[in-house]
Amino acid sequence: MAEMKGTSADIHVEDYMAEYESSFTDADSMMYDRFRKKELLNGDWHYAVDQYDTCIRQHWYREVSEIGGFTLPVDYSFDEWPVMRLPASWNTVEERYLLYEQSMVFTRRFRYAEETEGEKIFLKIGAANYLCRVFLNRQYVGMHRGGSTPFFFDITKYLEKENRIIIQVDASRRPTQVPTENTDWFNYGGVFRDIALIRLPGVFVKSFRVSLIPDGHFDRISLGAELSAETDMTARFMIPELGIDEEVEFLSGRAETFFSASPELWSPENPKLYDVCLSLDGGDAVRDRVGFREIRAEGRRILLNGKDIFLRGISMHEDSVETGRALTDSERMEKISIAKELGCNFMRLAHYPHSERMAELADEMGLLLWEEIPVYWAIRFTNDKTYADARNQLLELIRRDYNRASVIIWSVGNENPDSDERFRFMKGLADTARAEDGTRMVSAACLVSEEKNAIADRLAEVLDVIGLNEYVGWYSPDFARLPQLFANSSPVKPVIITECGADALAGHHGTDSDKGTEEYQAEVYRKQVEVISGIDYVRGMTPWILFDFRCPRRTSFLQRYYNTKGLLSADRKHRKLAFYVLQEFYRSIAGGKEKS
Ligand code: GCU
Repeated sequence: MAEMKGTSADIHVEDYMAEYESSFTDADSMMYDRFRKKELLNGDWHYAVDQYDTCIRQHWYREVSEIGGFTLPVDYSFDEWPVMRLPASWNTVEERYLLYEQSMVFTRRFRYAEETEGEKIFLKIGAANYLCRVFLNRQYVGMHRGGSTPFFFDITKYLEKENRIIIQVDASRRPTQVPTENTDWFNYGGVFRDIALIRLPGVFVKSFRVSLIPDGHFDRISLGAELSAETDMTARFMIPELGIDEEVEFLSGRAETFFSASPELWSPENPKLYDVCLSLDGGDAVRDRVGFREIRAEGRRILLNGKDIFLRGISMHEDSVETGRALTDSERMEKISIAKELGCNFMRLAHYPHSERMAELADEMGLLLWEEIPVYWAIRFTNDKTYADARNQLLELIRRDYNRASVIIWSVGNENPDSDERFRFMKGLADTARAEDGTRMVSAACLVSEEKNAIADRLAEVLDVIGLNEYVGWYSPDFARLPQLFANSSPVKPVIITECGADALAGHHGTDSDKGTEEYQAEVYRKQVEVISGIDYVRGMTPWILFDFRCPRRTSFLQRYYNTKGLLSADRKHRKLAFYVLQEFYRSIAGGKEKS
C-alpha cells in the first residue's frame, strides 16, 4: 500500500506515541497569569470518544482528505461531532461515559486578529487528566503529562485568522505515571479547568513572587521576578497600602530584592490581603493580592507568625457528584464554608493539586492549606521518567501557588512503602520543594510502623512536619494501640495526623459497635480526639475526610462505589454524627490553644 500520510497506512505503527514525545511542555514553560486578561475558549467543543487513539495514530489533525485529486475516506468529521461544554469531567457529562478512561478528542474553531505588533499568544489549559496533546491548524503543538496542574504553549507561530484547535486527552492509568494505575479515588477524565488564550507583549513578566521574608521579624517583603527574555529593564514595584513604590532593576531578565515594611499579618482569623503590582517601563504589568505571613516548624511546634498553632483540619478530595473534578466556584466556596462551620483553620487538599481557585478562595476566606502531588502508594520509584513526572508536577504546583498565603505545606506523597529507592525518590522531591520555595514547610503522609507500633518512617529525616495516617478503630481494631503508638514514638518534629476515621453510610444507624453506622464512626472520632488531644507533639489533624467521594474500589452494600469516610454525604446534604464530634473538639480548642 503506498505511503499515504494520515490514512490507513498508519494501522501497523504500534509505537505510535513516540513521535509525540518530542515536544513536552512543563514547569519551565509556566508563566505568571493571575489577573491577566484572558480570552476564554471554554464552552462548546465538538468531541469524539477515541478508544484506540486513532486521532494520533492516523494523524487526523493533518486533515489530509485528498491526494492527487483522489478523495480519501477519513474517519472523523470534526464539525459534525456532538458537542460537550468544557471545562468538564466527561464522566459526569453523560452516564455512558462514567467509567470511560481512555482518550477523547475535542475540537473547535476560533478567530484571531493581531492587536499589537510582535505580540505573543499563549494557550493555557488549567488541567487535563492525564496526557494532553494539542494540535493547531494541522500542526502538532506539544503535549503535557500530569492530570492536575496548569500548562502553557506559545502558539504564536501556528496562528492564522481562522483557526482549528484539537485537544486529545488520554485518561488512561499506567503503572509508571504519577499516580500509578491503583488509587483510592475516581479517575475522572477530561479538561477540568479553563482553556484560555493569553496575549502578551514580546517581553513579559514570566514569574512574579512576593512574600514575607521568614526571618522571624515580619518586617521585610521579598520580590522575585523573571522576564521572558534575558534583558535589562527598569520596572516599578508597588504595594500602595504599605507605601511601597520603588524602582526595580532587571538584570539579564531577573530581579531579586526586598523592601522594609510592617504589613498586617495574614492569618485564618485575619485574612488580610494587599494589592501588589509590578510594571515594566512602558511594557507588561502584573498584579496580585497577597497575604503576608510566616510559617515554620520549631522543635515540635508549628509557628504561624511566631505563635504556636494547632491545625484544626480536615482532608478533602477534589470531587463532586455533579461535576467530578471540574468544580464550580460555588461548589468550592460551599466546601470551604462547611470546613469553617466544622471549626477548621486548615484543610488537606488530597492527593493531587486542586484548582488554584481553592488557594485563592482560602486566601480570601481565611483557611490554611496542605497541597500535595499524587506520589501515592506504590509509585515506580526506580523509574527515571516517573521521577521526572513527579518532580515536574511539584514544580508546576509550587510555581502556580507561590503567592498564596493560605498554602503552608507542600506534601511530596502519601502512604508510600519504604525502600532505599523510595527514600531517594522522595528526598529528591523534598529537596526540590525547598530549593524552589524557602518560605514553606515540606511534609508527606507517612504510614505507622506496624511492627513497632510507632512513628518510625525514615522519610521524617527530610520533612519539616511528619504527616501520619493511622486508622486505629477502623483498619486496626485495638484502640489501646493508639496511646501506645504515641508513647512508643519520640519525633523531634511536629506531627500532623493526616488521616484517621471510619466509613459510615449516611443515615445508616445502629449501636456504636456496628461498623458502617454513623454511631460507630462517631465513636471512632470520640476516641481518636480523646487520645490525640493529649499528645503534645501532635500539632494538627486532617481526619479522612470531609465528604464521601466516588471510589471504584469500594463495592460493599454500605459503600456502593463511594468511599464513605466523609463527615458529610457526597451531595453535602447530610451531616453525619461524627461531624458534630469533631466540631465540638475544634470549638473547644479554638478557644483555648489558639490563645496560648
Ligand atoms: C488511605 C489513603 C486514602 C484512602 C483512605 C481509606 O490512607 O491515603 O487515599 O482513601 O486510606 O482507606 O479510606
